[in-house]
Amino acid sequence: MIYLKSPEEIEKMRLANAIVVKVMKTLKPMIRPGVTTLELDTVAQDLILREGGKPAFKGYRGYAHALCVSVNEEVVHGVPGKRKLQEGDIVSIDCGVLYEGFYGDHAWTFPVGKVSKQAEKILEVGEKALYLGIEQMRVGKRLFDISAAVQNFVESHGFSVVRDFVGHGIGRELHEEPQLPNFGVAGTGMKLKPGLVLALEPMVNEGAFEVETLNDGWTVVTKDRKLSVHFEHSVAITEEGPDILSQGKNG
Ligand code: MF3
Ligand code: CO
Repeated sequence: MIYLKSPEEIEKMRLANAIVVKVMKTLKPMIRPGVTTLELDTVAQDLILREGGKPAFKGYRGYAHALCVSVNEEVVHGVPGKRKLQEGDIVSIDCGVLYEGFYGDHAWTFPVGKVSKQAEKILEVGEKALYLGIEQMRVGKRLFDISAAVQNFVESHGFSVVRDFVGHGIGRELHEEPQLPNFGVAGTGMKLKPGLVLALEPMVNEGAFEVETLNDGWTVVTKDRKLSVHFEHSVAITEEGPDILSQGKNG
């Protein structure tokens, strides 16, 4: 079942996402060599609760944290812990918030200090792929126009898109229909309608697209242990075009 949101519901979703944006803005200056991934999680959790929200991932299928923190070859669902970030790492922070009945979901990958040229390039390609996908989120376009825009751009730079995890509809549930893959054929899939809210979250691998889950049952890594980045926005489709709900006022 696909739930289209009214303009009022979209405004509520903007409030949930605003808390996520606040978390990201607070964490960004903390992302330096020596900080542990659990320290980031603790700050996020405290801030979400102080803002009157609920960490959306905590309790989800038994997950114990507010954030997923995925370093280097970790793709998604990295579990916060004692690991200290090091100069040259790249780290993806994924955060979800439930606020007054609606979810916000947003992820970003950051460099830790100075990173390699290759790391800089994949960060740039991942971010640009997200925005090229969002650019397709227009009434009259089709769902896999979004997917194709992401895939074509990523592959044109010699990187790959993860197949095993996808984006999703979002609203009163963290994961709603439809699923939104980062690969697909342009001109196919459902027609995009006003009120559809989608979390687009390209996961871009430096090497091959295959991934595997570590023995902790959560951490997803690239099979070839090469780098991966993850960028996610929650976006409402309106008559006026895509409305990025998880974007701060200053971009
Ligand atoms: N952010 C992920 C998503 O967009 C969900 C994290 S899974 C969890 O689907 F278990 F950590 F919550
Ligand atoms: Co998501």
